[in-house]
Amino acid sequence: MAAPHLVPTPTSMTALPDAAFRIGSGAEITGDPAAVAALQRHLDPLPAAPSSGSIDLSVQAGGPAGSYRLAVGTASVAVTGADAAGLFAGIQTLTQLLAEGPDGWTIPAVRIDDAPRFAYRGVMLDVARHFHGVDTVKAYIDRASSLKFNVLHLHLSDDQGWRLEILSRPELTARAAATAVGGDAGGFYTQDDYREIVAYAAAHHMTVVPEIDVPGHTHAVSLAYPELSEQPVLSEHVQETVAQFGGGLPENGSAYEGMAVGFSSLKIHDEETSAFLRDVFAEVAALTPGPYLHFGGDEALGTDPADFAEFVARASALVVATGKTPIAWHEAGAADGLAPGTIGQYWGFVSPTDGMDDKTRRFVAGGGRVILSPADAIYLDMKFDAASPLGLTWANGPTSLRRAYEWDPATVIDGIGDAEILGVEAPLWTETVRDLADIDALAFPRIAAAAEAGWSAPFGATPERTWESFRTRVAALEPLWTRLGISFTPVAEGEPA
Ligand code: ACM
Repeated sequence: MAAPHLVPTPTSMTALPDAAFRIGSGAEITGDPAAVAALQRHLDPLPAAPSSGSIDLSVQAGGPAGSYRLAVGTASVAVTGADAAGLFAGIQTLTQLLAEGPDGWTIPAVRIDDAPRFAYRGVMLDVARHFHGVDTVKAYIDRASSLKFNVLHLHLSDDQGWRLEILSRPELTARAAATAVGGDAGGFYTQDDYREIVAYAAAHHMTVVPEIDVPGHTHAVSLAYPELSEQPVLSEHVQETVAQFGGGLPENGSAYEGMAVGFSSLKIHDEETSAFLRDVFAEVAALTPGPYLHFGGDEALGTDPADFAEFVARASALVVATGKTPIAWHEAGAADGLAPGTIGQYWGFVSPTDGMDDKTRRFVAGGGRVILSPADAIYLDMKFDAASPLGLTWANGPTSLRRAYEWDPATVIDGIGDAEILGVEAPLWTETVRDLADIDALAFPRIAAAAEAGWSAPFGATPERTWESFRTRVAALEPLWTRLGISFTPVAEGEPA
């Protein structure tokens, strides 16, 4: 029997010779009520047809966290999770197994034993460069959770806008949220909106990681609390970006609608800045049930290294004081006083340059672990090919689907293997991304490569973890993605190297 096509590819799968299980929208589903509801949503659109038996969805403690077993026979389907997250993951697999044939909808007879390689499997959505409302975020949660991602990192603040209501600092959303890149409309989440996102994510077994990016990427703060902001540093890079993409030079107190980075900073030494961070982090932490709070730390290009180190020490300690574990982009690893246990997020290339690997190793030396987000592989906002209208190219782009696939988390940074890696995250920056259709067109299919890097065996370790296998398996998901209304880029178009 040919094995069904699944992404991410499971730990083990045996195709059985038995006849397939026939299924229609009215199939009897028993077991865990939340899981029953989750599967029912996928079956509702199917035509009513007799099913060849019942489907049981249950949790049975025993296997590794997040793992599940799935058994499909001619007359029964059973999905057994080691925990609720594992059961949910098994339902996503079942959804990919549904196939339409001449006899209607069926699930092939198969046995699967599956467990995730990494505990943290994230996607990041930048809601600052362009704001994306609650419905769009929910749609991205649907998409990501269907590929077994379990973390949604929201980049909530940047030079172009502040996107989360902070009750103790009301000017942030009153004055600094109205616009976006290109002069497009901005927006922000009320605290109730944010709670709604967190709850929706939780129902899809995803944890929200909020990011408040400091000390750089903070021009928007100058519109709300100008006393906290340094003057913009108009480097050659900023001038070049303005020449290439327009948007004008940043000016404190005026909305920034361009795409330059690295020009803004909070005042490092002021007690007012510490008080601001304390207020903001306290509210974000209180709103967020997950264990992490990301404080950014990237591209503080105009900040003196000693000042940056002092700031990172303070910001990471303030996050710890809220009871959360800090996460920071890899640059923060340069700071001697970084709070022990801080998680480092590496966004350099698959082959590290400029000492980015040294900075990342320092998180591990401090008792933390590492999230891998190599920009030349899984930054989903890179163009697929030079002609694509969406996306950027600075990360050694264009980035083909094949490049997004052919790397392994454990071989990026010497000394950082599976034990030091918390997980993998695929960011989607939104300078050129205005709506869900744009998100879909850039993320799909490359998001599937990131899903496999986070969930499946190491690249090259099994016959399935090869480009040839992945290319076939990911293309086979296109009918499902069409049914789900995803405006994906066809696999064949994503291929040019
Ligand atoms: C980043 O891309 N500046 C994290």
